[in-house]
Amino acid sequence: MIKLFDPYISKKEANVASKIIQSKFWASGSGVRNVKDFEDEFLKYTKSKSCVAVNSGTAALHLALSLFDIKNKEVLVPSLTFVSTVSSILHNKGKPIFVDIDSKNLCIDPLDIKKKITKKTGAIMIVDFAGMPTKIKEIKEIAKDHNLPVIEDAAHSAGASYDGKKIGSYFDAVCFSFHPVKNLAMPNGGLICINNRNNIKFEKNLQSLRWCGIENRKKFEYDIRKLGWNYYMNEISAAIGLIQLKKLDNANKKRRAIAKRYFSELGIDNKMPFSNNCVYHFYWIRVKNRKKFMKKMYEKGIETGIHYNPVHKMSYYKNKIKLPITEKITNEIVSIPTHPNLTKSNINKIINTINDLT
Ligand SMILES: Cc1ncc(COP(=O)(O)O)c(C=O)c1O
Repeated sequence: MIKLFDPYISKKEANVASKIIQSKFWASGSGVRNVKDFEDEFLKYTKSKSCVAVNSGTAALHLALSLFDIKNKEVLVPSLTFVSTVSSILHNKGKPIFVDIDSKNLCIDPLDIKKKITKKTGAIMIVDFAGMPTKIKEIKEIAKDHNLPVIEDAAHSAGASYDGKKIGSYFDAVCFSFHPVKNLAMPNGGLICINNRNNIKFEKNLQSLRWCGIENRKKFEYDIRKLGWNYYMNEISAAIGLIQLKKLDNANKKRRAIAKRYFSELGIDNKMPFSNNCVYHFYWIRVKNRKKFMKKMYEKGIETGIHYNPVHKMSYYKNKIKLPITEKITNEIVSIPTHPNLTKSNINKIINTINDLT
């Protein structure tokens, strides 16, 4: 079976994990050793102002939103995303306002953002869908005009760039996921890049919130002034992350080369565009009879997926808003593999099978 996602690893990851297990130093809430090294390296890599590591992309989103005053405010967010993007708003007592997407790249539509901004808007959330950062300048301008923070869900876009700068350096808070399926894979992990005038305060806040609100630690003494969570990154994940970070650009280059082939060799019209900025966490196509298509692909030994069933349609939200593009696309979208472990013959098989079936 050709897997949809498959971490790109060598013996190095296994060796470092084993070394840390034997060291018995597996975790530190305050973020020392490998966690600190990972933060420092990620900071250099993205050229953002601060980096705080946590234990998942979900935790990164939850904590990032807590930095901004969104209580009882509206937060603009796409519905075509993983549920965590939206639940982070509710965990911070904000109100999600779902925004439609651009049918070309499936990222949030800046025109619909403009339509939905009101006096009650407290923040804008964007998602680099499938690793594609788009319309960053337009979104920055909208945010500046309305004095709103932007929180970027970069769970799919570790290593992506825009205008020659890495993702992580653009918005007030940029949240990464290092879940095993992601371009930079760890057993679990996440990270928040901050680029805001309150950087130092925010960094301190996040460091405390990720470890149960603990601050002012001096030997055995510490205090809490705010409630926090147990969200710190473990040492094994951080050490694996350091190895993964070193090969991220090379791995993303491989993903991009695969996507380039899909873009030029797949006969289907409705497919993900090609961009050198994108890191192709997966590649999406749109098909008419999706259930049958996915079943046939599976029978041929190719795993596919659906990213995503729209969040506004989930039972919890009971949201009556109409998002025409999101709703049309989510019935047709299929994700196909782009991971760097795919062989040339795997890629040929994927292309030929899709061309036969569509
Ligand atoms: C777009 C998006 N946001 C957030 C997350 C949450 O990341 P994690 O699984 O690390 O909590 C994911 C992961 O699946 C994701 O794809």
